[in-house]
Amino acid sequence: MDQHIERVLFDRATLAKRVKDMAAQIADDFRHHTNTQDESASLVLVSIMTGSVIFLADLIRDLPLMLRLELISISSYPGKSTSSQGVAINSSLPDDLTGKHVLVVDDILDSGRTLTAIRALLNERHAASVSTCVLLRKQLPTAMAVEAEYVGFDIADEFVVGYGLDFDGYYRNLPDVVTLKREAMS
Ligand code: IMP
Ligand code: MG
Repeated sequence: MDQHIERVLFDRATLAKRVKDMAAQIADDFRHHTNTQDESASLVLVSIMTGSVIFLADLIRDLPLMLRLELISISSYPGKSTSSQGVAINSSLPDDLTGKHVLVVDDILDSGRTLTAIRALLNERHAASVSTCVLLRKQLPTAMAVEAEYVGFDIADEFVVGYGLDFDGYYRNLPDVVTLKREAMS
């Protein structure tokens, strides 16, 4: 696997530090939205599998808040392609989201199709608020761009793997976020 790596963008120490900082910010912003006595003010994390699995595991262990976790699965690019062509939502959202504060956790914001689709669904469920947290963001924050409230790192428009992100299902277990050599992607 290591011989396929072209460049390390963020090593595990850099990722760990940034994820801790993001968790501290989220904990601070949501500390009034986690009253479990009052269901209407509770926090639900909706995490998009499978790419966010490692980010999510690290993030929530630094969130000292009462929260529920919901995992949903979305395919945004079929087969070996490295650019997303559409979004297929493979699992249903929980239906009791009315009045809840929802934080969507995803690995990377690219075209924004995934987060746009999720936000639309969540708004139909009458969530009290919907915020988004991504480890990586490729698109530049322009007027047209999909908003993410919490962003770990902005990166250039290149394909990255590791720390949960895959190419054709592989490389999720790399501890660093890296780019791959051209021959590994052919
Ligand atoms: P969007 O719908 O175009 O924003 O795509 C977001 C999804 O595409 C992410 O959740 C990833 O699953 C996938 N994706 C986009 N860029 C990359 C990448 O560089 N590496 C791995 N997966 C990616
Ligand atoms: Mg994904």
